[in-house]
Formats: sequence, structure tokens, C-alpha cells
Amino acid sequence: MPDVDVREVLTLHEFEALARSAMSHMTYEYVASGAADEHTLRWNVERFERLRLRSRVLVDVGAVDTAVMLFGTRHPFPILLAPAAYQRAMHRDGELGTVRGAGATGTTVIVSTATTTPITELARAATAPLWFQLYVQSDRAFTRDLVQEVEAAGSQALVVTVDTPTLGARDRMKRARFELPPGIATPHLHDVSTHLRGIITPDRVTVTWTDIEWLLATAKVPVLLKGIMDAEDAERAIAAGAHGIIVSNHGARNLDTVPSTIEALPAVAERVAGRVPVLMDGGIRRGTDVLKALALGATAVMIGRPYCFGLAVGGAGGVERVIVILREELELAMKLSGRPTIASIDRGVLWGE
Ligand SMILES: Cc1cc2nc3c(=O)[nH]c(=O)nc-3n(C[C@H](O)[C@H](O)[C@H](O)COP(=O)(O)O)c2cc1C
Repeated sequence: MPDVDVREVLTLHEFEALARSAMSHMTYEYVASGAADEHTLRWNVERFERLRLRSRVLVDVGAVDTAVMLFGTRHPFPILLAPAAYQRAMHRDGELGTVRGAGATGTTVIVSTATTTPITELARAATAPLWFQLYVQSDRAFTRDLVQEVEAAGSQALVVTVDTPTLGARDRMKRARFELPPGIATPHLHDVSTHLRGIITPDRVTVTWTDIEWLLATAKVPVLLKGIMDAEDAERAIAAGAHGIIVSNHGARNLDTVPSTIEALPAVAERVAGRVPVLMDGGIRRGTDVLKALALGATAVMIGRPYCFGLAVGGAGGVERVIVILREELELAMKLSGRPTIASIDRGVLWGE
């Protein structure tokens, strides 16, 4: 593929189209696909489109401030990079490209347990915060050592993925016969074949609240639970001592026909009622989507596929460009809707609320 000048790319949708030819068919299918018939995959995007905005006029929007605080750290805008596995399959620079691109914009990256670059190497290249996503593995000693290793490397929070007792029905990925290309390894996974089959091991089938309580007692940094779609589960997470909730359906890669995340968010945010930050991901493709998520109670959002596509197209520069587009679109949406600060964004931004 000829080199793409990423400055010429104007939207996240264009990045996806370009990524299709930048990646092998197998890897594109791995990134783009969802579970089963992909109903939830479509809903994640469509339900944002259905929400309409109310714009208010003659508000002083001369100075827009997008900054938010999370666990005592200032984030210049409420967008983080969601954990995504196997990035060296997407681009030769892999996670290093992502960390450098994010660093150029001050964006926090959540490094996947299935990273293809060790966290210590990423920490050396990082100029913005790193968080680490944890799949609790059946070997507790291994998991504890991993937590200590990533904390020592400077991970500022742990994101525990709680929605994957097994992988979903990844029909499209299987059809494309996705596998890790030769020479690419996952240094923080106990057993990569375990990961591809699902987080299942012979001695203990699945992760439960007991593991979360153990982890909360072990970790020294804030722990967020990723993959909560239900208000009761959010309540239970807070009771267990979780420091944050991430409303996510795993990018529609696990259980098809669960609702879109923007539909699930309001009930969770209402129940949490500001006790801990509520992040969300799934289907964010425009700055207006970020605005809508904040209006319905998110403290911040995360993106997954869009930056994977940016990475595939342009390495670090592609990741940076994806973030800049989304940040500028968010600023534009705040100005045009008459909401100059994050604190001024409430449900009233939505038409009919
Ligand atoms: C290629 C790919 C790999 C992913 N790997 C992980 C992972 O290792 N751990 C995890 O918790 N979530 C993983 N996810 C889910 C993302 O963290 C996130 O929830 C999802 O991509 C958000 O939806 P979006 O892609 O529509 O932005 C992955 C998603 C994709 C697309």
C-alpha cells in the first residue's frame, strides 16, 4: 500500500476504510468483527446516531475546556485508548506505536494483558499515563506477580476485564482463520492458547467476585471493572471496593444481542450516582458520540477499533491523528451545542430529555 499522509484523513470512518487494505484480511477481520450475527456491533454505532442533540445559542464558547480528573490525574480530554490485544499483528510497531501516538496528545493507554510488547518497554516509551488491563488468570501467583510487575513499571490503574469467562462466538474471525503471525508473542499471558480458547483453565473455570475481592486486596493502584452492563453488578462492584466502573460489551465481541453500551450506560450511571468514575466504550466514532456519552453520565470514554485502524494505517502518527480528530470533533460539538465545559454537559444536551 502506498504511504498514506494521515493529515489528509478527516474522519475515523476513513481510517477504517484505509485500514482494510493496510492489514492482512485475517487481521482486519479480527479487529473489525463482532460476535455471532453482529447485531450488537451495529447497535453500538446506530444507537448513538439515533440520539439527537439540542443546540443552545449565544453561549460564550470562546474558551472550551475539555479537561477531566480521574484518580487525581488530569486528563486533557475525556478519551482513553481501550485495551486491544495483538497489536504487532496490526502494524510492525505494535503497542509501541500506540503508546507513542497517544503520548503525543497526552492520552492514557490501557495496555492489554495480551500485549505483544512487554509493559516495561512500553513504560520507557510512554509520555502519558499507562494503565494495565488484567485478565485474572487461574494461577493466582502468576496473576499477583503480574500485578506487581505492572505496578512497578508505573501502571497507574488496573482495568480488570470481567465480561469474558469465555470468548464469544467469533464466527467471522474463525472464518478468516485468524492466528498470531509467526514471531509475535504475548509476554504477559501465562498460556496464549488459553487466551485464544477463552480464559478457561482446567483447575478453575471462571473468575468470580471472590477473585475481585482478592485482587482489590492485592493491588496498590485503583482498580476498575470493565464489562459491566447491569446496575446491580455496578452496585456489587462498588460494595466490593472497586474504584471505577467501565460500561462495555467488549466491543460487541462476546454476547450478541446484549444492548448497545449507550443504552446500558444511563441506568448504571444513575445507580453509581457519582460514587466512582463511570467510563464507557463501544461504538464511539464521532465527537458528538463522546458528548452524548458524557450527557448520559460517563466520566470519560474509551475507543478501541478506531485507534487500531489508525495504527494499521500510519503507526504512531495514525494513532495520534485518530485522537486529534476525535478531540477536535468533541470541541466542535461542545461549542455548537453551547456547552463550553465538561461540567456543563448534562442530559439537556439531548433533544427530548
Ligand atoms: C482487536 C481488539 C482487541 C481487543 N482486545 C481486548 C483485550 O485484550 N482486553 C479487553 O478487555 N478488551 C479487548 N477488546 C475490547 C476493547 O477494549 C473495547 O471494549 C472495544 O473495542 C470498544 O469498542 P469499539 O471498538 O467500538 O471502540 C478488544 C477489542 C478489539 C477491537
